Formats: sequence, structure tokens, C-alpha cells
Amino acid sequence: AVLILLGPPGAGKGTQARMLEERFGLVQLSTGDMLRAAVAAGTPSGLAAKAVMEAGGLVSDEIVLGILRERLGQPDVKAGVILDGFPRTAAQAEALDKLLAYGGQRVTAAISLEVDDEAMIARVAGRYTCAGCGEGYHDDFKHPETAGVCDKCGGTEFKRRADDNAETARARLEAYHAQTAPLIAHYGALGVLETIDAMASIDTVATGLGSIVERVS
Ligand code: AP5
Ligand code: ZN
Repeated sequence: AVLILLGPPGAGKGTQARMLEERFGLVQLSTGDMLRAAVAAGTPSGLAAKAVMEAGGLVSDEIVLGILRERLGQPDVKAGVILDGFPRTAAQAEALDKLLAYGGQRVTAAISLEVDDEAMIARVAGRYTCAGCGEGYHDDFKHPETAGVCDKCGGTEFKRRADDNAETARARLEAYHAQTAPLIAHYGALGVLETIDAMASIDTVATGLGSIVERVS
């Protein structure tokens, strides 16, 4: 199966992709995570992507497609993938269709997570994670039970993404509406579009997504 999670920043793509990964044995492929790893490693792609990401813009199709192609070539993705944050432009969607057709495959479902813009800014702007285990927290919605100590692993170091502030979140949202939202029509025309109300609780969204995945795969 090739599942796509479409949705603006903060819609819950990462949260839900990790849950689907555990439940269905699919592999989460997040181009955002791949790009952040490239930035941290200081690769040429990472160096080129850093400023664009910090400003909330979209990294060039060339860089993103290069990183994704490399990852799709690895053997562990055979079981099926959840694309989280990719494709994000018409050119990326077309490149993906071609790449899949080459291997006799196609997109199984593109699931659009529908949310409210202002709520997304709040979700993204307060977010931070445990540096040790990656558990997610939020300034307003979810603190560790003991202040400064991770519930899951006991770690005491936390990190925040460079692009998780209100101003950059707005730029990311604009990029979504201008360049990514049109893909909803693309997948509608291919007959593989599904939508879900992602304003609901994390568990409710997970249940809805689970039913879609069971139905299409
Ligand atoms: P990327 O890493 O993909 O970030 P994003 O799309 O902005 O998405 P986020 O990770 O912010 O949100 P999410 O939908 O995963 O939500 P999450 O589950 O974390 O991209 C970052 C940058 O990289 C881009 O701006 C761009 O520069 C570049 N890039 C990446 N891919 C690219 C591509 N293909 N082409 C070009 N450039 C690319 O949830 C958010 C918060 O809300 C969490 O705190 C969570 O706990 C909470 N939450 C989740 N669901 C719920 C719920 N139902 N109710 C209440 N709270 C919830
Ligand atoms: Zn932890």
C-alpha cells in the first residue's frame, strides 16, 4: 500500500503516521524528518534546505525528490509506506505517480486531514519533544507529569523545531494553501481521495484512519 497523508502543518500527520506504522506495519516516510536529518548532518541538501525551512517555505522539488527517491530504494519499504508531508507540490505528485507506475504501483489512498487554520497555528507554536525518546509535548495542552522530566523515558532534555513559532507557522500554512491544497483535486480525479475530520481527538482520528486503511488495503 502507498498511503498519503495530506494536511497543513499541525494537522496531525506525524502523530497519525507513527500510530499507523505501529498498527499496520507500514513504514512512515516523512520528508520533513528526512530534511531535518540532512540539516543536522550538514549535507549539501541540508545546507540548501535550512534557510528555506526556517522561513516556512517549501524546499525545492529537486532536493526533496532526490532525498525521497533514495529512501524509496531501500528494502524495508516493500511492506508499504505512509507518506507524511509528501507530495507537497503538483510537480512532486506527478513525479510520485511516475515513479510508482514504473514499478507497477499506484497511490492506494490520499487522505486529507481537514482542520481549522487558527487551531493549527496554536498546535504547532507550542509543540516540543523529548530529546531522548521523541515523545511529544505542548506548552498549553500536554506537559510532562513531573515538570522537566519526560513521562516515557525520564529524560530531562527537550527540543523545539526551529520552525515552530507563530510567525513561521503562518508562512507554512500559506505555503500549504497555495501549493499543496490543490493536490486534493489531483487525487480526487484519480479516484483515491479520502477525507477525515482532524479537529477531533487524536484517538478518534486514529480510529477513522484505521477504518480507511483497512478498507483500501
Ligand atoms: P514537515 O516536517 O512535514 O512539517 P509540517 O507539514 O509543517 O507538519 P508538522 O510536522 O508541523 O505537523 P503534523 O501534521 O505532522 O502534526 P503533528 O502530528 O506533529 O515539514 C517541515 C518543513 O520541511 C516544511 O515547512 C518545508 O520547508 C520542508 N518540507 C518537508 N517536506 C517537504 C516537501 N515534500 N516539499 C518541500 N518542502 C518540504 O501534530 C502537531 C501538534 O498537534 C502536536 O503537538 C500533536 O501532539 C498535536 N495534535 C495532533 N493531532 C491532534 C489532535 N487530533 N488534537 C489535538 N492535538 C493534536
Ligand atoms: Zn523521553
